[in-house]
Amino acid sequence: MTDHSLLPAEFAGLDLLATMVVVTSAAGECLFANAAFEDTMRLSRRAVQRAQLPDWFDDAQRLLETLDGVAANHYSSSRFDAVLRRGAWAHEDGLPVHVIVSQMEAAAGGTPRVLVELIEIGQLARQDRDERNLDQVQATKELTRNLAHEIKNPLGGIRGAAQLLALELQDGSPELTEYTQVIVHEVDRLQSLVDRLLAPHRKAQVVGDVNIHEICERVRALVLIEHPKGLAIQRDYDTSLPDFRGDREQLIQMVLNIVQNAAQVLAPRMAAGDAQILLRTRVARQVTIGKQRWRLALELHVEDNGPGVPAEIRDRIFFPLVSGREGGSGLGLTLAQTVAQQHQGMIDCESEPGKTNFRITLPLP
Ligand SMILES: Nc1ncnc2c1ncn2[C@@H]1O[C@H](COP(=O)(O)OP(=O)(O)OP(=O)(O)O)[C@@H](O)[C@H]1O
Ligand SMILES: [Mg+2]
Repeated sequence: MTDHSLLPAEFAGLDLLATMVVVTSAAGECLFANAAFEDTMRLSRRAVQRAQLPDWFDDAQRLLETLDGVAANHYSSSRFDAVLRRGAWAHEDGLPVHVIVSQMEAAAGGTPRVLVELIEIGQLARQDRDERNLDQVQATKELTRNLAHEIKNPLGGIRGAAQLLALELQDGSPELTEYTQVIVHEVDRLQSLVDRLLAPHRKAQVVGDVNIHEICERVRALVLIEHPKGLAIQRDYDTSLPDFRGDREQLIQMVLNIVQNAAQVLAPRMAAGDAQILLRTRVARQVTIGKQRWRLALELHVEDNGPGVPAEIRDRIFFPLVSGREGGSGLGLTLAQTVAQQHQGMIDCESEPGKTNFRITLPLP
């Protein structure tokens, strides 16, 4: 067997990539696999180095032919889609990947080497979707903010005029006075709506050291006070998560909005006594948020066993004024997303009946 012990140092930089990369011989023998590959395949470095890359491919022949063609310089690179089978998880569904095979300089001994990049197709689609979402959210946010300002300005005038009218009418008909009260009341409602829309942009951030679990505990206590019966809020914390810099009050509001939504849709289950919310924290490595890459991030999952987000609004829940519930103003998630973005993070959601998971990702230093 060839001695590959010197090879990894040469490829150390590849370990920093989020994309899976494997260096093989022309025959498919693994000379090196980076950390992303080992993580995804759940294999140790030793196990990888004795293996044949084609063994993990559904269509081994296709890969072998490509490796051969590239190594023999018939073409300098080639791309195709394939499905990876995971070693110990062979019973799991395969992992669809986009494969890019390129030439590499030969090793010192002259053995031809080939670079194989494997990009998870699901991941590509997700990143694409996240990016599109962020752009859309940004555009809508701008529109909302401008609109809110336009609405806000005349409101004061309308309210004042209605009050003057009420004074004039004082001894007149009580019916007309009632109308002016309706005007004032509705203006106040609009005013508070507009204030909520503008709130996260107006207040300067108060940045300090924050602990995600302290925030979770605060929110948990608040929501349990509001719903003392039939609701269990479980925690599954990764206590190794470090503190980070952020605006504590805003972050509490962000998590609260999400947990409150869950509590609201769980009402029928609370009545039955089996409503559940789970707060789970995890470390995430090499995450892309929007267009930025972070080495380390924290994930807070808020999971509930409610009915799921209504299908007709699923793509739009983070947009302002989109609500699926009676009396909802549709601002909670917009505000939460804004807070996450102000912390360079983001929120996404996966939902099906019986299981809804809101994931907050925040970069860590
Ligand atoms: N955990 C969840 N399960 C099912 N649906 C949800 C969940 N969280 C949010 N939703 C849906 O997303 C909609 C939008 O939520 P959002 O918090 O933005 O607005 P809202 O709760 O309707 O009003 P507001 O929070 O401003 O009072 C909700 O009305 C609800 O239909
Ligand atoms: Mg809400």
